[in-house]
This record gives sequence, C-alpha cells and structure tokens, in this order.
Amino acid sequence: MELKVFPDYNELSAAAAEMIVGCVRSKPDALLCFATGDTPKLAYQLTSVLAQKNNVDFSSCFIIGLDEWMGIPPENTGSCHYFLHHYLLSPLKINQRQVYLFNAMTANEEDECDKMDSIIAGNGGIDFVLAGIGLNGHLGFNEPGTATNTMAHVAILEEITKTIGQKYFEENVNVSNGITVGLKQVMQAKTLLMMANGRKKAPVIKRIMEGEASIHFPASLIRQHIGGVLMVDNEAASQLETPFK
Ligand code: F6R
Repeated sequence: MELKVFPDYNELSAAAAEMIVGCVRSKPDALLCFATGDTPKLAYQLTSVLAQKNNVDFSSCFIIGLDEWMGIPPENTGSCHYFLHHYLLSPLKINQRQVYLFNAMTANEEDECDKMDSIIAGNGGIDFVLAGIGLNGHLGFNEPGTATNTMAHVAILEEITKTIGQKYFEENVNVSNGITVGLKQVMQAKTLLMMANGRKKAPVIKRIMEGEASIHFPASLIRQHIGGVLMVDNEAASQLETPFK
C-alpha cells in the first residue's frame, strides 16, 4: 500500500480524478466500483471534466455502486443511486447498460447479492475501487468484524453509521441495513483507492496507519493490499507520526 498526502481537498480530489481517468485510459473496458459520500464528491465532479479534456472514452467501461441503504428508493436524494447519477454517471454520459447499482427495494436480498457477485466474477474481479472511510473504519458497508471472505451481502449497520448517515438525507430516515460489495471483492480489486479528508478523519487515518490491520477496523486492511493507495489531505494526516506531522 502507498500513502499519499495532499495539501488540501482540492488537490486530493484532482489526484483521485486523475486515477479514475487513468484507469479507463489504460483499460477502456475496466470494471469500476464507486462509493458515495462527502469525500469523493469533488473527485467525481472533476472526473468528467478531465475525461473530456483528455478525450478519454468511458463508453466501454462498466460501473457498479459499492453500496446502498436498504429500503431507500433510487429517487431519494440521499440514496447512493441518486448521488452516483448526479455527480458521476450523468456528467460522464454513462449509458444505463454500463451500470449496475444495488436495488435497495428488492424483496429478494439474496438474489440481489448474487447479481452483484456474478457481475464481479464475470469480469474476473474489480479493476478499480474508490472507497471512503467511515469513522468506525467501515469500508463500503462492511462494518467492523466483517469476515475477510465476505461477498456481496446485506449488513446490519452500526449505530454510528446510521447516525452519521442521516447527513445525506433531507428527511429523517429509519435505515437499519445496508447492501454492499463484500470485503473479499474489495480486497481483490486490482486497485483500491481509499480517500479521506478533513480533521474529523485524522484519528481514522492514524488508526489505519499505526494501529493493527484487522477486520475490527476494516479500512485498515488496505495495508495488506498490494494495489492499495490511501490518499488523504493534510488535515486527515495531521495525527500521524513523522514524516507527515
Ligand atoms: C458510501 C460508503 C461509505 C462512505 C463512508 C464515508 O457509499 O461506501 O463507506 O464512504 O461512510 O463517508 P463520507 O465520505 O461522507 O465521510
């Protein structure tokens, strides 16, 4: 794994956009898996600008969503569906047939997870994952304690995930489960780009870099990923031991 520290959120986001565009440039039919949330917002906005500027064609790639809030319909502005369409898929003019996002309204959770598993397996694994990091160390909705051999599954969300998750929604929501690509599939991705910014993520970055790499803080497993890149801004790196202090 490689750690990269950037002066601020803008530079961090620009570097992440470069990586996304670079992945599709070198493998036009790549399978890309994207998180939502505050962290990658700017990176996604910059991706379409950069792709256009550098003439990188996204029409052969396939995009999957990393996760979704169970029971939240796609038209809800707080859903991962809505976010990905708004910030990434529409600006990049991605065709519907190039995308699979979890159906959080499904009556058959097992079938929904199987669908995602077959897309990933059919491609021979994920080429590129962009993930954020929860304050409890979750990776996607792989909450602390998730086994490393986990495939796509429905997870019971921790209280902190539910409480913090409320920030994405305009109304009060009562969500207790999330559906997510599994830890195994994320860890087997060729590239795992994990991003964090801001002072509130500083303890998380410290734990990832200086604590034990374990399922009790899933994001820390990036340390065992050969193609792992942890990109943070100065604020998120501010509690690290030298040389980043
Ligand atoms: C969302 C996801 C989550 C977030 C994490 C950080 O699709 O996978 O794991 O990445 O909760 O969220 P933000 O970026 O809002 O701090």
